Amino acid sequence: MLVKAYAKINLLLDVLGTRPDGYHELVTVMQTLELHDTVVITKAREIELIVEGADLPCGRDNLAFRAADLLRRQVGYAGGASIKLIKRIPLAAGLAGGSADAAAVLCGLNSLWGLGMRMGKLLDLGAVIGSDVPFCLQGGTALVRGRGERVDPLPGLPSLGVVLAKPCFGVSTAEVYHRYDDIENPLHPDSQGMLQSVRGGDVSGLVACLGNALEQVTSSMHPEIEHIKSILAATGALGVLMSGSGPTVFGLFDNETAARQAAGRLKNGNFGVWVTNFYDPRS
Ligand code: C5P
Repeated sequence: MLVKAYAKINLLLDVLGTRPDGYHELVTVMQTLELHDTVVITKAREIELIVEGADLPCGRDNLAFRAADLLRRQVGYAGGASIKLIKRIPLAAGLAGGSADAAAVLCGLNSLWGLGMRMGKLLDLGAVIGSDVPFCLQGGTALVRGRGERVDPLPGLPSLGVVLAKPCFGVSTAEVYHRYDDIENPLHPDSQGMLQSVRGGDVSGLVACLGNALEQVTSSMHPEIEHIKSILAATGALGVLMSGSGPTVFGLFDNETAARQAAGRLKNGNFGVWVTNFYDPRS
């Protein structure tokens, strides 16, 4: 069985405060990208994980392994599965690559093992594995709240082109949130404006409301992020923003052709470049 595990970006991310469980209360608008890892799953006696295309752990430190193990224990399934991750989504990038793999494993095993588990239950299990997993299970465009477990679908957007620019370092999400707590005057992006624009299919409104409360934190740790934003903006992007806790910066374009042309002008930068577009697995 072959399952695609799609990357995401955050068109808006606001932090409302800290929660008693130590996590942060979020309001974020997430969008699935066509860029994906491929997860190949076959039945086996035990749970085994192989990773191609990236240097990643294959045991409990890998969210995909944890997802399989949690699901098996939850339902008391006697067998296992051999899971191969073919990685394309950059690691520690703010694109939810690990969470996407975990979500794909939950969906794939639910079907391969014939469990018939409903989406509501999969979402509960996903939230145990990681804050971005519930969105990755649903995909498309969504308003995500809580620590990430409350996912409300939004209408699909036009398939905008996307250039992703990722510096050669990764960031720790936990560290970014930790440092966020020390900011005296955090910025709060316009979540109401973003929701109104997305619901109305208003791309220029959406671009005007792009905002990420974590950007000031990650940029202060890595000033390269501001530099990459200005380079991407100069290629004619409709708008640019850091995704999630970073460090990937995305630029939005009218379509994938425009994104590809812009990426062609980004030679010699000290960062990796990917071209993709908005994707809606629901349609
Ligand atoms: O849930 P996940 O393991 O992906 O989160 C990684 C880290 O990011 C958490 O350990 C926590 O420090 C931080 N986080 C947070 N609030 C959220 C999501 C993540 O503080 N809503």
